[in-house]
Amino acid sequence: MPVYNEKDFIPKQAPGRFPATWEFQTQAPSNIAIIKYWGKKGMQLPMNASLSFLLPQSLTTTKASARLSDKISDKVKFTFLFDGKENASFSKKIAVFFERIVHYVPYVKRYEWTFESENNFPHSAGIASSASGFAALSKILIRLERTLYPEADEILLYHKTSFLARLGSGSASRSVTGTVAVWGTHPGIPGSNDLYAIDYPFEIHREFRRMTDLILLLEKEKKEVSSTTGHGLIDKHPFKHPRIDQARNNLSRLSEALQQGDWDSFGQITENEALTLHAMMMTSNPYFILMQPETLRWISLIWDFRNKTGIPVYFTLDAGANLHLIYPDVYEQKILSGLDELTQAEKIINRIRL
Ligand code: PMV
Repeated sequence: MPVYNEKDFIPKQAPGRFPATWEFQTQAPSNIAIIKYWGKKGMQLPMNASLSFLLPQSLTTTKASARLSDKISDKVKFTFLFDGKENASFSKKIAVFFERIVHYVPYVKRYEWTFESENNFPHSAGIASSASGFAALSKILIRLERTLYPEADEILLYHKTSFLARLGSGSASRSVTGTVAVWGTHPGIPGSNDLYAIDYPFEIHREFRRMTDLILLLEKEKKEVSSTTGHGLIDKHPFKHPRIDQARNNLSRLSEALQQGDWDSFGQITENEALTLHAMMMTSNPYFILMQPETLRWISLIWDFRNKTGIPVYFTLDAGANLHLIYPDVYEQKILSGLDELTQAEKIINRIRL
């Protein structure tokens, strides 16, 4: 598999012609990291490699309409509507995204853009809405690139989609790949690199073929500390280097567990990563806590249930208070009847199919 560098993603010449108007609608899923990315270097490069599963039912849908402009300005001209309304905070993030990527997609400056976007899940609740949002935008831009450069190499464009998405939000790089994505250089994962995410290259054991990620919506309020702020605190974090070593080892062990069908190790690493992510937050300067009392109550319910029944149900956390329960589908009925509060709880269910 070729590994591309930054220069490969810069178009070599201007397109032959530009359509006067262009429209495209696409969807992109969110993802949940099992090995967490927390801490970055340079321009949106990860401090450690991460591995995630796509959440195929948690989607952003974005429609783009582009009109060829008479003047080419330095800045990309766009209007961004979220749920039909302009949203200043999203628009600001997208303006930054365009500044970062325009060098690699210079043709976008020829157009005036309108983007209309919506999620089928609540945003800013520790579910990676920026991941699916920037993934959808990147898919749109790469679709235009394909139209403008019909000869372009498909594999390069596939990786360029992830490369662009990364410049919007690191975790977005993992929302444009196959179900299991790895982003960041890792010695045990061939082709892995910091610039874009790749499909996990090894065969996964059939034990993991049908599993569920059940998101318990414990808190729907906007989280108080953004992941950008959190990443920024890692640079001076006293546990920065141990964390880099831990993430590397955890990914090596997880990769083995995935290939061998070892749910116990998979679950142990998954929970260790979730708690480490939050421990890094609690031990940064300034420190902060995103878990809520309900998060801890549920963790203890899950642990009690697992100890009593031996059923492989594990949790992970994103940068928020909501819990993701991960388990093989075959145990769902037993989990729902054993943890009977689950039936009433507000939840989002994603079926992961490998
Ligand atoms: O992509 P960002 O900058 O929103 O960071 C996401 C970080 C975590 O969601 C906490 C972990 C991860 O790897 O997705």
